[in-house]
Amino acid sequence: METDQSAEQRAQVELHSLRLPDGPPLPVSILSETEKNRAAAFRSCAARRLFVGGRILCRNIIGNLVGSAPQALSVAITASGRPYLRDYPDIDFNLSHTRDRIVLAICRGGRIGIDIERLDAFSEKEAGEIMPMILSELELNQVHQLDTRHRHEAFLACWVQKEAALKCFGQGFLADPQSVILMPGKTTFSFESQVSGEPIFIRSGRIGGEETGDFQWAIATSKAAAKPQWQHHKNGIFL
Ligand SMILES: CC(C)(COP(=O)(O)OP(=O)(O)OC[C@H]1O[C@@H](n2cnc3c(N)ncnc32)[C@H](O)[C@@H]1OP(=O)(O)O)[C@@H](O)C(=O)NCCC(=O)NCCS
Repeated sequence: METDQSAEQRAQVELHSLRLPDGPPLPVSILSETEKNRAAAFRSCAARRLFVGGRILCRNIIGNLVGSAPQALSVAITASGRPYLRDYPDIDFNLSHTRDRIVLAICRGGRIGIDIERLDAFSEKEAGEIMPMILSELELNQVHQLDTRHRHEAFLACWVQKEAALKCFGQGFLADPQSVILMPGKTTFSFESQVSGEPIFIRSGRIGGEETGDFQWAIATSKAAAKPQWQHHKNGIFL
């Protein structure tokens, strides 16, 4: 279990959050040509804004971490769409966004996946329809024993944990979320799950969204990590 690992064996995780309210188009000058082309291909301005904002956030934060100019970072993409750093194999990162919030997780010494969802991401009806596709039979039975409000909260927590796990391994929803089995760990928000035979470690919680409401988040790491702190950035820092 993760608590048996010494500090040196643990992955080092940083979590960053950027609120991105509506505004004029974001500058794409530090993006690669591939990223600029992808940004130009979005039909939805909001989706383009989240994509560009995510790349600006990760290029600035990771560039600063490795001592590189943001535009000089080489961000490649796997066949299943997962971005990674071609020149820094010991540093992994992952992005998630929802409406006006972008989060970035960086991990040294292991792989990482992150997911964030607004607390009102699903209506009761939607949650009821999606649950059987996401939860295992055991998990489904457990959430059905809860009252409506707690059932909704438990489902959202499972959703972000499973999505973070699938993003950690890189397949996203190409893999079956029911294959991720969440098991209570030694701390409240720490779980161990199994996909493709490999154990992974999950932390989950909520962050406040000021006037935009609250968010449920989860990170999944291939190695146990010390409890990370959130760093909240104002968009003027990067944009
Ligand atoms: C990964 C996935 C679960 C993300 O879903 P989403 O609703 O967009 O959720 P999030 O906002 O949390 O995450 C988006 C970010 O995850 C990252 N991502 C994309 N594909 C990923 C993957 N396979 N594994 C891990 N992370 C991935 C990207 O950084 C993306 O943001 P960006 O496009 O702005 O760079 C979903 O896109 C998926 O299942 N993809 C895999 C299969 C697929 O459809 N591939 C098509 C492209 S080849």
